[in-house]
Amino acid sequence: MYKTGILTLSDKGAKGQRTDLSGPQISQILAATNLYQVLKTEILPDDREAIKAKLIEWADQEKLDLILTTGGTGFSPRDQTPEATIAVCERLTPGIPEAMRYYSLAITPKAMLSRAAAGIRNRTLIINLPGSPKAVKENLEAILPALDHGLEMLLGSGSANCAEPAK
Ligand code: MTE
Repeated sequence: MYKTGILTLSDKGAKGQRTDLSGPQISQILAATNLYQVLKTEILPDDREAIKAKLIEWADQEKLDLILTTGGTGFSPRDQTPEATIAVCERLTPGIPEAMRYYSLAITPKAMLSRAAAGIRNRTLIINLPGSPKAVKENLEAILPALDHGLEMLLGSGSANCAEPAK
């Protein structure tokens, strides 16, 4: 099982003025796969430095395999999640947000408004998802079919076989 953290970014959520529905939505979707064990969940305000610090802590100290963030990927001045993510990653994985936007554009033209990024910090894959529960579900649908293969490669378990027929 991949050790996973879910980080919700929302000023209102962090102040308790809005219930976080997206974090629990991610947990529920992951639970159905039996591949991911959610060890950490947290809500932070849209503060770039605080987000960076949490991502570094979860990657370097907690040694999570996967961090999924939700929220803060849009155009509002407080939306800082992609910048925080890019700042802490050593290698970007642009195919993941490309796949999310490609898949999502067939559902809504507003998909182009997500600036979500994804990348790797040491042995941790960090992926930004947009903030709404609907967007979370749709974006996870786009990436879950290939995500475990990427994690297998990242974690060097030696069993990732790219020649295997696509599932
Ligand atoms: N992607 C999908 N699949 N479905 C959606 O409903 N909403 C979009 C976009 N991506 C959406 C989506 C909207 S309206 C915005 S503003 C951006 O994600 C950014 O969302 P965020 O600021 O909550 O991160």
